[in-house]
Amino acid sequence: MAAAHPSVPQPIPAEPPAATVSGLLRDIADVGRDRTRGGYSRPVFSSAETELRSWFIAEARRRGLDVYTDQNGIIWAWWDTATGTRRNAVVTGSHLDSVPGGGEYDGPLGVASALVAVDLLKARGLRPRRPLAIAVFPEEEGSRFGVPCLGSRLLTGELDPDKARRLKDPDGNTYADVAAANGQDPRLIGADYKALQQLGVFVELHVEQGRGLIDLNQPVAIGSSILGHGRWKLTLTGEGNHAGTTLMKDRKDPMIAAAKVMVGIRDTARKYRDARATVGRIHPVPGGTNVIASRVDLWIDVRHPDDSVTAALVEAIGLNAQVMAAEEGCTSSLSMESRSPTVRFDAGLRDRLQELLPAAPVLDTGAGHDAGVLGSQIPTAMLFIRNPTGVSHSPDELVEDWDAEAGAVALADSLAGLLGEARGIG
Ligand code: GLV
Ligand code: MN
Ligand code: MN
Repeated sequence: MAAAHPSVPQPIPAEPPAATVSGLLRDIADVGRDRTRGGYSRPVFSSAETELRSWFIAEARRRGLDVYTDQNGIIWAWWDTATGTRRNAVVTGSHLDSVPGGGEYDGPLGVASALVAVDLLKARGLRPRRPLAIAVFPEEEGSRFGVPCLGSRLLTGELDPDKARRLKDPDGNTYADVAAANGQDPRLIGADYKALQQLGVFVELHVEQGRGLIDLNQPVAIGSSILGHGRWKLTLTGEGNHAGTTLMKDRKDPMIAAAKVMVGIRDTARKYRDARATVGRIHPVPGGTNVIASRVDLWIDVRHPDDSVTAALVEAIGLNAQVMAAEEGCTSSLSMESRSPTVRFDAGLRDRLQELLPAAPVLDTGAGHDAGVLGSQIPTAMLFIRNPTGVSHSPDELVEDWDAEAGAVALADSLAGLLGEARGIG
């Protein structure tokens, strides 16, 4: 290339355009699109989720953050103070995995907003007195290995590493094997008290998964609590046989038992005020049109603010299933896959966020989050961003661009307030 002539004025290189949340989300809008189900399918360690992890790492490095992936698959991106001491950090972030056929915002909105919040703080000339970190948690949805918030449960020691290593995805691959194939050493997963000691507070920004902000006509809310929830697997065992040669009276068909059980679950849950119970996944074995199934596995998601009511409801569901199964000549067995008690976010941190964001209402949520799991170790809080459809875990989930940018400003204001504090809250 010819050298520029010294007397010819050179154009001043244009500043790279400031990143926006909607712009960042547009950059990843094609990753993991699910042409069959609609929306996005980005299970942990799939090619889509891996691509999103690489995208995040590149974006964080572009901002000068020190990035690494820990032994539990959590990506950390650090903006250090002048001393470089990693203690009492203000942490934000979310997740990049999705439910099958999920929306565009559940998880990535919090990650993209964290990146933009860093840009905004840098543009304001902020010199943090506490370190800031962005964390990206793997398998928040539990849509591949069945246990939601797998990364934060491992980090906090809430999930036994042996149990985690043995978890299987729907194709029968263990978590240990899949993690190893993705460059992680599964022998090293588990509680990381050294990492936890570095953390001061965690603020997760998330798309609202209901209609609270629509009704209040506000773009941003502060979270108050997460509804207790858990997952159970019910197995109904019958007798596999031929669809044409087996008389109706001779059948032990677990699909019929499953149908009755599912209606029973709905009816039982309706008897408990504020309870939610869902069967969103059912798997007949072997699963042929002309085959009476020998077994049906179905997964039940149960939620209630009072954990003892959840326990009572699940017990009722299990007893009911035994009766329904017996009526069809089948047997049933129920096992718990995960449980997350109701979480009330740290009151001191919530009050501080209310001072920093005086217009934001306070809302609770029925959805689970890593902020709930981390809340057992450090003060945690959430910001919710208006979702004009009120729908989530669906391609219809939506955040308007202007609300996404308002959310990043609210997150930056929150982080700035917390970073300016010499001591932690809580
Ligand atoms: C996660 O979004 C959950 O609430 O299951
Ligand atoms: Mn989420
Ligand atoms: Mn979700």
